[in-house]
Amino acid sequence: MNIDLSNQTILVTGASRGIGRATARALADAGATVAVHYGHSKQAAREVADACGPDARPFQADLTDLADTDRLVEDVLDAYGQLHTLVLNAGVARSMPLDADTADWADDWNDTMHVNLRAPELLCRHALPHFQSKGGGRIVSIASRAAFRGDTPDYMSYAASKAGLVALTRSVARGFGDDGIKAFTLAPGFTRTDMAQDFIDTYGAHHVTSDLALSDLTEPDDIAPFVAFLASGQADHATGTTIDLNAGSYVH
Ligand SMILES: NC(=O)c1ccc[n+]([C@@H]2O[C@H](COP(=O)([O-])OP(=O)(O)OC[C@H]3O[C@@H](n4cnc5c(N)ncnc54)[C@H](OP(=O)(O)O)[C@@H]3O)[C@@H](O)[C@H]2O)c1
Repeated sequence: MNIDLSNQTILVTGASRGIGRATARALADAGATVAVHYGHSKQAAREVADACGPDARPFQADLTDLADTDRLVEDVLDAYGQLHTLVLNAGVARSMPLDADTADWADDWNDTMHVNLRAPELLCRHALPHFQSKGGGRIVSIASRAAFRGDTPDYMSYAASKAGLVALTRSVARGFGDDGIKAFTLAPGFTRTDMAQDFIDTYGAHHVTSDLALSDLTEPDDIAPFVAFLASGQADHATGTTIDLNAGSYVH
């Protein structure tokens, strides 16, 4: 099977690090022109764009900021004139105990909801009319196993935001299929990135690996090929679906 994305421009949010970085590189390896979104990691995003070939460019937007988020798709369209696939990958997961200060608790829920759910919703709002005008497009959302089984009490905002992202993605698949638009969700379990490291530092490595069928932790490169496959059009009849990528934790 050959995955050829050479006719595609793809925006990957949160492509400066972790799963997004691996995804950007896999898409570029398959021939895509990649718009490398980042929030704060400017140098890292520059390096990812350099590794993704001459057409790749970094695009900055703080996804907690409404105006920044609102212009991101337009910035990409200004640069390339087209967008074929939107990968909603950027995310945050912050530990917030029940007895935290109310202001801190509210800030955590606001920021988490903004980056993980509101930003995807706003980006879809801009990408969908473009896809409609072009006769189609694809969205790949990176949700989480936490959307389905919940998370530890101090990561409730994270689980809730990811459940919202699943519902948003399914709604796109359901509501825009007639326009040729497909939408898929990937739901990773623990994956070796900065985000997982924060959790490991809090709970220990054993907590992360003890419920896996496989003995090794999922790597970003285990996730990235699925995004390339879904973007390729060869899985279009799986629109609306969620693919679990969690090292067998549901069967352990
Ligand atoms: N790692 C896991 O175990 C795991 C498991 C399930 C699901 N996921 C999901 O996979 C996705 C990628 O996670 P990861 O593990 O690769 O995380 P990561 O290594 O922490 O990277 C997060 C990415 O999101 C971007 N980002 C965060 N806050 C942002 C903001 N306010 N504005 C703009 N960009 C922002 C970061 O960009 P900057 O650094 O440039 O700000 C970075 O590129 C997330 O949606 C996460 O929820 C991860």
